[in-house]
Amino acid sequence: MGLYVLIGIPLLLMVVYGFLYTLESKATFPKNVPIVGYAQHGRPFVVYDPSAQQELLLPAQYVKWFAEQSDSKLNSLGVRQERHAVRYLHLGADVELASTTQFIRLISNDCLNQHLEALMGPLQDEMRRCIDAAFMNASSQNEWSTINVYSCIQDIVFPAMCRVFFGQSDMDPRLLKALQRYITVLGLSTIFVGELPHMLKGLLARLVRMPLAYYRNQTLRILIPLVESQLSRRDGSDESSFIRQCARLSEKNAVGGRGNAVAPQGFAGSSSTVIQATNLLLDIANCPPEMQVLQELRHEAEITLPDEELWHKVATFRKQVLADSVIRESLRMHPILIKGLTQEVVSPAGLQLPDGTNMPVGSWVGIPVLGIHKDEKFYPQADLYQPFRYVKKREAIPSRINSDDHSQSAPARAEVWDDESESTKPTTTYLGFGYGRHACPGRWFAVVMLKMITSHVSMNYDIESTGPVPQTMVLGDAALPPIWATIRVRRRIT
Ligand code: HEM
Repeated sequence: MGLYVLIGIPLLLMVVYGFLYTLESKATFPKNVPIVGYAQHGRPFVVYDPSAQQELLLPAQYVKWFAEQSDSKLNSLGVRQERHAVRYLHLGADVELASTTQFIRLISNDCLNQHLEALMGPLQDEMRRCIDAAFMNASSQNEWSTINVYSCIQDIVFPAMCRVFFGQSDMDPRLLKALQRYITVLGLSTIFVGELPHMLKGLLARLVRMPLAYYRNQTLRILIPLVESQLSRRDGSDESSFIRQCARLSEKNAVGGRGNAVAPQGFAGSSSTVIQATNLLLDIANCPPEMQVLQELRHEAEITLPDEELWHKVATFRKQVLADSVIRESLRMHPILIKGLTQEVVSPAGLQLPDGTNMPVGSWVGIPVLGIHKDEKFYPQADLYQPFRYVKKREAIPSRINSDDHSQSAPARAEVWDDESESTKPTTTYLGFGYGRHACPGRWFAVVMLKMITSHVSMNYDIESTGPVPQTMVLGDAALPPIWATIRVRRRIT
């Protein structure tokens, strides 16, 4: 009840400010830039957000050029401060935004990606336990029952990430609840305050800061002693644990105390992973049965995962080309940001676009992600969800991945799979994880998690649609899955 009130008040205020936002306008773009939609291909165009902030969106052929601009010409600090409302909602005032962002990037690269394989055992263990708990709570063996996808996915992803990050099974359920609420309120507040006109931001941010501070304190009250006790262990058994690496990195990079090493900012990607896993399960369940998506994924999972220890190898999941294609297609259809990668021109001389237009300092420039993902030029029948769109030769797959060579030689892989189509490989027309040097550093970890979910679910459960395909919700730049959507699940008879 309390949570509904805390979320309801900001939503009500959002309606009120809708009447007010037109009071403010910042005209920063040259007059010759057209204000048109994506339909006018190949040219930059201007859009406004509800705060009347102008943003120039670039066509796909400028994406590479855009990503190559140096931070001294274009960077995202101002955008994070305003659109992501960091200036208004940041409660840990002891750390600079730039160093916090840099730190999360370092954590993702040094601690997550370089040690991914070491994290896969605990990750699988926790995911399996949580999927079975979430699905079996609702279903008795061999009988169909209905589950809420978003809520079940939250109950899977949060504990799994906590297990990996804090190195402890059986996390205190109070911590999981508090963290989940903190991240939800933070996400909604970011969207709400970020879209407000500048003059209202500071005022209304005070309101959302109250619940935010409450959930943050609740989280840190349990989290910090847990982290301190993990770090003070002197048995030497866990020197390479994620939490120790974060602590070392924190000390080396002088980004504040130990609390900052593990503060919930480290959970930057948990909401994105929950959103994407929800989209993925909804897409699979709502696919026409004749496409046999679940059955194909099951077949691939059974072939690639005959032994328990293969669950702990990155190479195993790289072989799952069907699962990879399904993940990429879900990200194409439902990118978490419908427009994004937004940067501010910071060079005092402005920024000259490839077409000669000069963008003045202070302008915002971004990419129309959904527009590009739904462009027929790049994706034939772009409105159609085609789960195996990126697989070249499906019939060749089972024999290839069934070989004893678990590393799968490059030519064999190339026969069925174009490496350029990998879900973790951003291109100028596939932007689900961003693009360039600021592309998501958590994407390898996220994709392994998503593949573990599709593998465990397809091997152990049947899933099916409960009705018409639910619509994605758009709030500001963010696209969220319908959080009330359900599917039916049934434990497989083995
Ligand atoms: C399926 C899940 C995920 C999706 C779809 C996703 C998507 C994205 C996207 C689109 C961006 C670029 C935003 C922009 O440039 O405007 C991004 C950035 C980022 N993501 Fe993810 N992400 C996911 C999971 C994760 C995970 C698991 C982590 C870390 C544990 C993570 C950490 C980050 C960080 C630190 C950045 C900022 C990078 C920078 O600014 O240099 N993400 N993510």
